[in-house]
Amino acid sequence: MITMTTVSVEPAADVRRHPAAPGAEVSIRPAERGDAPAIDRLVAANVGPGLLLPRSSADILRHVSRFLVATRGGEVIGCGELAPLSKTMSEVRSLVVVAAERGGGIGSRLLAAVVAGGRRQGASRVCAFTHIPRAFVAQGFSIVPHTWLPEKIMTDCQACEWFRRCAQYAVVIELGGSRGRGPRRGSP
Ligand SMILES: CC(C)(COP(=O)(O)OP(=O)(O)OC[C@H]1O[C@@H](n2cnc3c(N)ncnc32)[C@H](O)[C@@H]1OP(=O)(O)O)[C@@H](O)C(=O)NCCC(=O)NCCS
Repeated sequence: MITMTTVSVEPAADVRRHPAAPGAEVSIRPAERGDAPAIDRLVAANVGPGLLLPRSSADILRHVSRFLVATRGGEVIGCGELAPLSKTMSEVRSLVVVAAERGGGIGSRLLAAVVAGGRRQGASRVCAFTHIPRAFVAQGFSIVPHTWLPEKIMTDCQACEWFRRCAQYAVVIELGGSRGRGPRRGSP
């Protein structure tokens, strides 16, 4: 004899859409000091799976003014930082969208806003190291050899446990800014 059982299935947490405030618009704005704990949680949740480099709470708080956050209904659901690596090069760091909100274009909006910030600051180039180059290539970044980014290698890579066996892609976008460039020869 076959017995029928009714099973109610809850959607998995990481596929539930917009749990914070259904229907609320997503906004992107500069981060404030009060956003630091939420940024900390977002980053920490992606360190274990190996997607992001660890950041201390103190480091995030110290650099919180470099971050943009995506919010829905007042809740921080994504973030990204633009960190200067040299006079001419900046880096996208800690770009992350909460798992339940991925795949809806929020990461692209955040990345575009971070790059726009680099353009406003006059950066010549913006780079990133990532396991997901597609999100960057879609915004005009190119995949390049790690050795094309000596600023990053000297600043972070040499001290990293994954140095010389890193599986991340280096990506870079040329912005043509003039920050850090000296006056051209012959210019008045
Ligand atoms: C990377 C991340 C921020 C993208 O956010 P998102 O809101 O899902 O991104 P979008 O919906 O705007 O998609 C952007 C593009 O990336 C692609 N993409 C996103 N996640 C991907 C994944 N895991 N694998 C492959 N491609 C992916 C999308 O397909 C899309 O490309 P398309 O427009 O050509 O289809 C998000 O997946 C995330 O938080 N990942 C964990 C942290 C991380 O890896 N950060 C990057 C390191 S700097």
